[in-house]
Amino acid sequence: MSKNQAFGRREFLKTAAAAAGVAGLPNLAFAQGAKIKIGLMLPYTGTYAQLGVAITNGFKLAVEESGGKLGGREIEYFTVDDESDPSKATDNTNKLVTRDKVDVLVGTVHSGVAMGMVKIARETGTLLIIPNAGSDAATGALCAPNIFRTSFTNWQPAYPMGKVLADRGIKKVVTLTWKYGAGEESINGFKEGFIKAGGTIMKELYLPFPNVEFQSLLTEIASIKPDAVFVFFAGGGGAKLIKDWQAAGLKGKIGLYGAGFLTDGILDAVGDAAEGLETTLHYGDGIETPKNKTFRLNYAKTFKLQPDVYAVQGYDAGLLLAAGLKVVSGDISKKKELYAAMEKAKIDSPRGVWTMSKSHNPVQDIYLRKVVGKENKVTGVAHKALADPARGCKMG
Ligand code: BEZ
Repeated sequence: MSKNQAFGRREFLKTAAAAAGVAGLPNLAFAQGAKIKIGLMLPYTGTYAQLGVAITNGFKLAVEESGGKLGGREIEYFTVDDESDPSKATDNTNKLVTRDKVDVLVGTVHSGVAMGMVKIARETGTLLIIPNAGSDAATGALCAPNIFRTSFTNWQPAYPMGKVLADRGIKKVVTLTWKYGAGEESINGFKEGFIKAGGTIMKELYLPFPNVEFQSLLTEIASIKPDAVFVFFAGGGGAKLIKDWQAAGLKGKIGLYGAGFLTDGILDAVGDAAEGLETTLHYGDGIETPKNKTFRLNYAKTFKLQPDVYAVQGYDAGLLLAAGLKVVSGDISKKKELYAAMEKAKIDSPRGVWTMSKSHNPVQDIYLRKVVGKENKVTGVAHKALADPARGCKMG
């Protein structure tokens, strides 16, 4: 066969496979046993690098536990480091969708970058599974049949802390976060719960992402003398704040609370500065379920690392895709059946069993946790089976 003939046949197959998706003809890529292409777009450098690695590990662990295949088909990974840089999000997503022609996009951590992925997913119809970024709009005003999330909305873990603090008699709070979507939405969630329960916000403090120069803000907090401070920070930024808080002499004087990203995955790095900190989140290290125990053991054995909430969310993204592809026996072109199966999936997660809301975001328990040694220990349930309000979601 000449080079031209070979090229012609390849082009024909590609066109036929694309047409099959549209016209409901048999999917040739599927019939020929092609691998399912998964595009992992996550941060592997910068403040959120560790989060991207944990998500990748968790996703791959779920695939390995289902025999290295999903719906009976082998998997091929394509990886892009998104650097948590929203200005590169569209180009980076296009590399995976247009250049690599992935079947599924999995990403990302940063809400601003996720907005770029959501845009392309909506334009191209590519299946997108978000394993972290909490941007409220992704499963709110911009919700879509092909967009699913296995993590949280930024509102979700922050909202219950408002009532927890107000019930303790804490009435005057200062908030502190990075000035970008996730920080602002997390603070809004906390404020909604806190004000409803009778609390007052004294001041909202911000610094640009990913800046960690906290000194002047901590001096300002000391002079305001609030009952407590509620924050959203994650990764290296969270670790730096916890250390600076102790160094500034605020630990033990003013209560520091946050969405649980503050203390997840960083306890080895901060030593005793984090001891006693309380946060709210949809996961805690020591959850006493058989699933969590086996997950933690397998993860530690495979990657020589302790898992955290990000690893759990990546793992659940793998479980969700596995559940969908099982129903369509690996034929990813059967989108209607695939999405229906993903909507109905009951995910037996290390965090506890969760289901998908109509807007494609987990309905899940939000735990109250306390740092004890190297563990985010669950001390209670701050809100049972919490669903995001999904404001503005009209599923097309
Ligand atoms: C976000 O940008 O949505 C985010 C980043 C880190 C942890 C939690 C949320």
